[in-house]
Amino acid sequence: MTRSNRPLGFATRAIHHGYDPLANEGALTPPVHMTSTFAFETAEAGGEMFAGERAGHVYTRISNPTLSLLEDRMAVLEGGEAAIAFASGMGAITAVMWTFLSPGDEILVDKTLYGCTFAFFRHGLAKFGITVTHVDMRDPQNVAAAISPRTRIVYFETPANPNMRLVDIAAVSRIARAAGARTVVDNTYATPVLTRPLELGADIVVHSATKYLGGHGDLIAGIAVGSAEDMHQVRLVGLKDMTGAVMAPLTAHLIMRGLKTLELRMERHCASAQAAARLLEDHPAVAAVHYPGLTSFAQHALAARQMPGFGGMIAFELVGGMRAGIEFLDALNLARRAVSLGDAETLVQHPASMTHSTYTPQERQEHGISDGLIRLSVGLETPEDILGDLAQALDKVWRVAA
Ligand SMILES: Cc1ncc(COP(=O)(O)O)c(C=O)c1O
Repeated sequence: MTRSNRPLGFATRAIHHGYDPLANEGALTPPVHMTSTFAFETAEAGGEMFAGERAGHVYTRISNPTLSLLEDRMAVLEGGEAAIAFASGMGAITAVMWTFLSPGDEILVDKTLYGCTFAFFRHGLAKFGITVTHVDMRDPQNVAAAISPRTRIVYFETPANPNMRLVDIAAVSRIARAAGARTVVDNTYATPVLTRPLELGADIVVHSATKYLGGHGDLIAGIAVGSAEDMHQVRLVGLKDMTGAVMAPLTAHLIMRGLKTLELRMERHCASAQAAARLLEDHPAVAAVHYPGLTSFAQHALAARQMPGFGGMIAFELVGGMRAGIEFLDALNLARRAVSLGDAETLVQHPASMTHSTYTPQERQEHGISDGLIRLSVGLETPEDILGDLAQALDKVWRVAA
């Protein structure tokens, strides 16, 4: 609390939470505990730690002080009780699923998902006797109509990768809870700066921390946040035994460095993306722009209610479809042709042939991922330079088409 009794703000917690330099030899930056194992004071103490009767670190696949600090920070930033750090976003997603699902259960998932999440559900979970049912969660009534006593988890991304569709988190979480299912939200695109699903009724948040949380394109990482009880189970089952997908301590250090500027970076990502979305919308070469901050966006009212800013991701389609899209990508000078997102560099990619090539062409059509869709992650470069690069590439494609 500050002197005014106001709770500390987001950025303050992202910079300070859980760490006291004076308890660490004055080191301003938390030390990185590069150790795989921890020495026990006595054999008896070690046995008690294994039995869960004594607190302390045993082995880094289970816990480590550097990971614990990041986990505590992520828990407060997402408004949850506890968090777990993973080696990748896919590590976080798979660990949560392996913890709570058994053969015979059903998972209800949105139509639009990141390509590897889609493949894990569709091919991985299905192989172990779990029914995967896709519904279009833009309308919560579709969730209410499809949910059954076998449904253990309701899962979605908002905004969804790559087509930017949104889900009303409060409405869907209410329906799931009434049916006894957990709601799991992939908050990678929005980050806790723009959406905190747990505060809206969801049970678990997962992240590809590779993206905005790390923020600098130099690591692969994942995070899960939820109740202390759920995270305890995920740690002992999904992390320790079923995936072993633990984050490296040095990666946790880099993510904590990224978190210090997360709020600032998101402000700039949002402002530049809004300007880029307007530029795209006004250009004759562009057939459709999907960005929650545009009044033309079909779910703009939900976006304005659920998100204080609209994020750094844009999806759009060119008049000339996929052929024009590929020409556009090749005409860019500043933006990098690369998958991933949320970095300082503006990144652009073609989901149908890249991140979402795990879908068959028919699945992409059924799930609203058109072959001509281009995904743009608006970076932190000088805004005029980003806009200038987009404009010259659009002009070039338009000239060729004319
Ligand atoms: C929305 C979303 N969720 C999960 C993942 C998987 O994360 P990772 O690549 O860190 O395993 C990604 C990766 O692109 C993603 O975009």
